[in-house]
Amino acid sequence: MLFRLNPLACLGVALTLGLSMGAHAAGDRELGEKKFYTCYGCHGVVDYKNAYPDYSVPKLRHQNAAYLITALKEYRESSRPHATMHAQAASLSDEDIEDIAAYLQGADSVKPSASTAAKAPKQVAACGACHGENGLGVEAPLNPKPPVLAGQHEDYLEQALTAYRNGRRKNVVMNGMAQLLTTEEDVKIAAAYFANLPSPLTTATTDSK
Ligand code: HEC
Ligand code: HEC
Repeated sequence: MLFRLNPLACLGVALTLGLSMGAHAAGDRELGEKKFYTCYGCHGVVDYKNAYPDYSVPKLRHQNAAYLITALKEYRESSRPHATMHAQAASLSDEDIEDIAAYLQGADSVKPSASTAAKAPKQVAACGACHGENGLGVEAPLNPKPPVLAGQHEDYLEQALTAYRNGRRKNVVMNGMAQLLTTEEDVKIAAAYFANLPSPLTTATTDSK
């Protein structure tokens, strides 16, 4: 058990034992649904692809609200580089972002699952400490809250890991963790493992609940 917590200690991730929960009012899901109307064009279309490079637009329905808020603010400030998503996020206020995140997540965030997933490859041995062995997260209230990986598009996960690995996408935790994947083959194995796990993550189609 101890070895799984080591990456946390090494990287100095703050464990805020529930203190941040309820620190600010949750977003309004109904308003969030309305504010998401410009987003359905890409995120509401099953298997919609980003062009050059080609990879699937990430699934957002049931993703953790806290993670979605971080992601949208990073695009808005361009600290997470992506021209299209910057343009999409640029005009959103903090309140818009919180409403959209609340709508996408739904009433409750995905529950971590205690049961052990089908044989995890050695490449992902360290990932479970934060993402859960089943890619659904862990009980400990981590801050920042890691995203749900289970069921996410494989090509998107591969793209994200490559961007952390080469430093294009900056995150102090994930830049370090991605170095554990020493080859492109390791990246592919990790992406395939999480993408194929059972998950409530889906495309945010207009009728998704
Ligand atoms: C033209 C297509 C397009 C539109 C419209 C669009 N997105 Fe995106 N979105 C993308 C792509 C492509 C990515 C992946 C970018 C990357 O690799 O960082 C993305 C990523 C995201 C992410 C990050 C998900 C993750 O797992 O990290 C969030 C959150 C998001 N979009 C929310 C929105 C919201 C909210 C809107 C509407 C205001 C929106 N998007 C509109 C294409 C689009
Ligand atoms: C110490 C905690 C921790 C560990 C261990 C960890 N991660 Fe993460 N992971 C995070 C956090 C926090 C984020 C969100 C970072 C951000 O905002 O860019 C994240 C983001 C990601 C993303 C981006 C998902 C998206 O929707 O864009 C992928 C992919 C990922 N991690 C894969 C992995 C893999 C594979 C491993 C093991 C090699 C791993 N992580 C280990 C905390 C962790």
